Amino acid sequence: MGSAEDERCVYKDPNAAIEDRVNDLLSRMTLQEKVGQMTQIERRVATPSVLSGLSIGSVLSGGGSGPLGVAESASSEQALLSDWTDMVDGFQKAALESRLGIPLIYGIDAVHGNNNIYGATIFPHNIGLGATRDGELVRRIGVATALEVRASGIPYTFAPCVAVLKDPRWGRSYESYSEDTDIVKKMTAIVTGLQGQPPQGHPKGYPFVAGRNNVIACAKHFVGDGGTERGVNEGNTVTSYEDLERIHMAPYLDCISQGVCTVMASYSSWNGRRLHTDYFLLTEVLKNKLGFKGFVISDWEGLDRLSQPHGSNYRQSISLAVNAGIDMIMVPFRHEQFAEDLIALAESGEVPISRIDDAVQRILRVKFVSGLFEHPFSDRSLLQIVGCKSHRELAREAVRKSLVLLKNGKEPMKPFLPLDKNAKKILVAGSHADDLGYQCGGWTVAWHGSSGRITIGTTILDAIKEAVGGNTEVIYEQNPSPSTLASHDYTFAIVAVGEGPYAETLGDNAELAIPFNGTDVIKSVAERIPTLVVVVSGRPLVIEPHVLEKIDALVAAWLPGSEGTGITDVVFGDYDFEGQLPVSWFRTVEQLPMDHKANSYDPLFPLGFGLKCKKEA
Ligand code: GLC
Repeated sequence: MGSAEDERCVYKDPNAAIEDRVNDLLSRMTLQEKVGQMTQIERRVATPSVLSGLSIGSVLSGGGSGPLGVAESASSEQALLSDWTDMVDGFQKAALESRLGIPLIYGIDAVHGNNNIYGATIFPHNIGLGATRDGELVRRIGVATALEVRASGIPYTFAPCVAVLKDPRWGRSYESYSEDTDIVKKMTAIVTGLQGQPPQGHPKGYPFVAGRNNVIACAKHFVGDGGTERGVNEGNTVTSYEDLERIHMAPYLDCISQGVCTVMASYSSWNGRRLHTDYFLLTEVLKNKLGFKGFVISDWEGLDRLSQPHGSNYRQSISLAVNAGIDMIMVPFRHEQFAEDLIALAESGEVPISRIDDAVQRILRVKFVSGLFEHPFSDRSLLQIVGCKSHRELAREAVRKSLVLLKNGKEPMKPFLPLDKNAKKILVAGSHADDLGYQCGGWTVAWHGSSGRITIGTTILDAIKEAVGGNTEVIYEQNPSPSTLASHDYTFAIVAVGEGPYAETLGDNAELAIPFNGTDVIKSVAERIPTLVVVVSGRPLVIEPHVLEKIDALVAAWLPGSEGTGITDVVFGDYDFEGQLPVSWFRTVEQLPMDHKANSYDPLFPLGFGLKCKKEA
């Protein structure tokens, strides 16, 4: 403890009860400082004077935004890990120079590893993890992710997304674990991985962070983001309250029971009611009924999107959202306007001071719980852990367990897999055979992801070359020429096709055909050579019957991330398949949305489907 003044500052006493620290600090804050704490700004506008002068509560990296600017593609120069820790610590230093020295929370979308950082371990996206049905695996991934996030100096990730995916036309399908609520509930174990395990008797709904190797998590997007009509991103979920609660809200109870610190409101609507302004759902249900005592954060420009045309009634949007129960606003750029408007709203009484105080108490509670007052800066001893061998092995295990075998042989008693590692000559083809960026998908280095060697990892082709024997000739052509195909001495072919990377609305897709002429490549190869097809995608894609019948084996690999070796581990037989479909594989998009409980349910492959190579013992 420092000066005599510090002696009287309960909030600075690490041995004082958290609620006493919260209330002591709140009692010392001006309205301006309270509004500052409710403000989250993007790093690009986080100047020292703004951070210290306005007592800003939080700074974030928007998708792809880092120390060197906003990564647009693989060609962007890569920031070093120390660039990240220096940047975050620099912001924190400025924040601590504010009158009351309240540390800020730096937040980032680490949604499948610390995916913003070059060289970080990139785990399979959630849809692939849902195929594993393995909550303990996902918890371990949370532990590893927390360490790699902390290594960059960051204590807060906007994860997990616990959307229940009802229509794969949705551009964020791959961020969901499943169409089945029970599978999503099971995968919420990642919260305990990220934040640590709350002790027995931990108060219900109270935020929890075990220590400096853990991060603040964020269950998102509350509520019903995966249930919109036609899968339109940020659209409207039309359903009864009972079904909203049963299908889409249930995973939040699991997150809250694990002490999740924050919940992000959804851009979407429920029966035409915008979630960002829904007092019933945000306050009466989430906070009062479910007992959530962390803080609710808006989505990016969530309040701006309420006021159309842009900015015409921003102040009204602030009033609606804050009164509904939003505690921290991801502004992220127009913080002066936000502060001016919210201060005016508080002074006029349109937003009661009691609401402001409740929001600030929740924010301060999370800051005290996470240890930020005692340890506001990065722990540089963690630098070596980013992309370390044990984390890559964990990611490889996750890839193995996520693969779903949909077809194995053209005749029942003649399985095609596992493949022979000592085959004489094999052909590798397709847009996704040698593209790390495609394997990782969106939210990887760049917001929407990108093609090419975007980070450190192994492509499917790399992995095949590592897996096969020294006498095996591997021929690789993305789109094999007639002369290449004319050769008759291939033992088999592996054709990897799928989706290019995307994020959010850019991923909304009503056709769901295999892009990059993938179907043509499959046909041209499979008509001549025994062929395994690997589909790398964020969701099921259309596979027509006349194409399926030509394929000898079919594997759904989802978006596996940096460790392509997990695929060859299984297709060459070192491990058997374990994955089960986390989402129905439709025949045609006209069937969407599919309901696996409906009598009319008629998918190509049903929810839970997954073959094994080796017959059950
Ligand atoms: C985005 C997403 C949200 C993300 C946030 C910050 O628009 O909707 O999932 O956490 O903004 O990047």
